[in-house]
Amino acid sequence: MIEINKLEKCFGDTQVLTSIDLRVNRGELVFVIGPSGSGKSTMLRCCNRLEEPTSGSILLDGEHVTDCRGRALDRMRLKIGMVFQGFHLYPHKSVLANVMLAQVKALKRSRSEAEARAMEMLDHVGLAHKASAMPSELSGGQQQRVAIARALALDPKVMLFDEPTSALDPELVGSVLKVMKQLRDEGMTMVVVSHEMNFAREAADRVVFMDGGVVVEVGTPEEIFGNPKSERLRAFLSRLQPSGA
Ligand SMILES: Nc1ncnc2c1ncn2[C@@H]1O[C@H](COP(=O)(O)OP(=O)(O)OP(=O)(O)O)[C@@H](O)[C@H]1O
Ligand SMILES: [Mg+2]
Repeated sequence: MIEINKLEKCFGDTQVLTSIDLRVNRGELVFVIGPSGSGKSTMLRCCNRLEEPTSGSILLDGEHVTDCRGRALDRMRLKIGMVFQGFHLYPHKSVLANVMLAQVKALKRSRSEAEARAMEMLDHVGLAHKASAMPSELSGGQQQRVAIARALALDPKVMLFDEPTSALDPELVGSVLKVMKQLRDEGMTMVVVSHEMNFAREAADRVVFMDGGVVVEVGTPEEIFGNPKSERLRAFLSRLQPSGA
């Protein structure tokens, strides 16, 4: 579903991604881990061209993301749902209006169609009862679930998550992970950058370890956490779990 070939990204003289190759199969949940500054966010952002790749190619369901321009790029971006650490909801619009907006503006759906789809997606993330609330009246976990509903309402082919729970209080993390797990069970193709290693163990099909702008190791959660091959991955994991547990 996603095919990244020899992706390179430089900011000025600094190379932050070096020859990234990654394939994500339909319905797969690929988890991306790695130290701060290793290029995880940059890789995700290249996938919908929030960052312009310096070289290499990215295909979504067989279509070149990297060659798209203008309208074609806008259409391509709609197929790639993105959820960030911050929720970026419009503060002066209701939850329902937030989930409707891009459907009407970008997909040109009628208001009634957009509303029906928004309600369906809000129900999906357990928040239909908050449709008329304002974002400020919701907890962080609820706001993030609205952001997920908003992305899903555009019927994306893949969902990319960049540290979706990092800004949340610990007790709110679970509700967001639950929605993500449900999406996975429904067959959504997902790439998730996160520090929630327990979630990776439970829900990921494969885990990608990045360090210094390269993919160092790819494997099942059992392989990556239970039998890390590279010294860099072992060092990274031991910093996460000083006890070695
Ligand atoms: N717009 C930019 N201009 C210059 N350098 C950038 C820019 N964005 C990112 N970088 C650099 O690229 C490298 C990778 O950054 P990136 O945000 O992708 O890392 P990350 O793995 O997501 O880190 P974190 O875990 O802290 O979110 C870092 O060295 C960062 O300083
Ligand atoms: Mg990041």
